[in-house]
Amino acid sequence: MIYSQLRGIGHALPGNPVSNEVLAGRLAELGIETSDQWIRERTGITQRYLADPTTTTSMLAAEAGREALAHAGLAASDIDLVIVATSTPDIIFPSTACLVQKRLGIHQGPAFDIQAVCSGFLYALATADLYIRAGKATNALVVGAEVFSRLLDWRDRSTCVLFGDGAGAVVLRAESQPGILAHRLEARGEFENILRAAGGVHGGAIQGHPFLTMEGQAVFKMAVESLESSARQVLAEAGIAPEDLGLLIPHQANMRILQMTAKRLGIPMERVVVAVDRHANTSAASVPLAMHLAHQEGRLLPGQTLLLQGVGGGFTWGSLALRLAPDFA
Ligand SMILES: CC(C)(COP(=O)(O)OP(=O)(O)OC[C@H]1O[C@@H](n2cnc3c(N)ncnc32)[C@H](O)[C@@H]1OP(=O)(O)O)[C@@H](O)C(=O)NCCC(=O)NCCS
Repeated sequence: MIYSQLRGIGHALPGNPVSNEVLAGRLAELGIETSDQWIRERTGITQRYLADPTTTTSMLAAEAGREALAHAGLAASDIDLVIVATSTPDIIFPSTACLVQKRLGIHQGPAFDIQAVCSGFLYALATADLYIRAGKATNALVVGAEVFSRLLDWRDRSTCVLFGDGAGAVVLRAESQPGILAHRLEARGEFENILRAAGGVHGGAIQGHPFLTMEGQAVFKMAVESLESSARQVLAEAGIAPEDLGLLIPHQANMRILQMTAKRLGIPMERVVVAVDRHANTSAASVPLAMHLAHQEGRLLPGQTLLLQGVGGGFTWGSLALRLAPDFA
């Protein structure tokens, strides 16, 4: 049997962190009132990274990808599949994955983007796993990357304080031991209206509303419900009892969603990776950025089981269980 083994992790965060206080000051200049206290209490966010106007998604993705390749001990010539999850591509086409392929000097295999908003990294990772298990790829680079700040309406305080920019990447390698144990992706298009950026390009002009809009409470409720049911299904499929799980690494949207999901699953917060306080919601980048943080903090251990979870616009969600290799470092 062929399995996908996690062999490398990388990250990229643009510039310096922007604290809630600094952001509140900038918004005050636009006549928008918010505070560190409101943001902290409702979301757990204390800061975010915001890309400057010259930084693109493919730049962040390539930086994260380069670090993941180095961690895996692989060269660009070893990679035969590139998938980038993003909702903020550099340009309409070619795909961000093709631009990353070019930036990293990868000259073989397919490269394509996946668009599933904040579930994008889970969709990309599950897809790469299917490629590897089908014998169609040996070393896959899977990236979640966003400059989500470009989609924000800075006059809408109910959304603009929640998001940030960044990229996270992993390398999956075909090996004889798992690796990825189980995954499940879901979408319910009938809820497309609760979280969207409903603008498009038509005849050289933007048509519709090109900024993110959200029904916060509807998203909150669906996120908690879908994360719990999806976790239960995938853990059962992987043969892992929630109390035996090594680490839960969920999408980082809101501290209260993380706490509620963990509580429903009976998983103590010490076994949940929290990065939303530092990164805010970086959409498709949030799960690999949280994995990178856990790795930096020495929390990813050989043989450990992980449950990764994504949830977001579409409405989409997904979970993936994996076991780190006995020689993972
Ligand atoms: C967005 C979210 C934090 C809002 O929290 P909430 O408790 O639902 O707050 P509400 O939207 O009911 O707003 C409460 C009040 O705060 C105000 N408010 C909203 N944003 C604010 C801000 N940045 N600063 C200060 N006040 C704010 C509202 O205007 C409202 O005031 P009112 O009572 O006078 O009308 C919460 O709904 C949430 O986290 N939802 C999920 C979001 C998410 O995870 N999205 C991404 C999924 S991938």
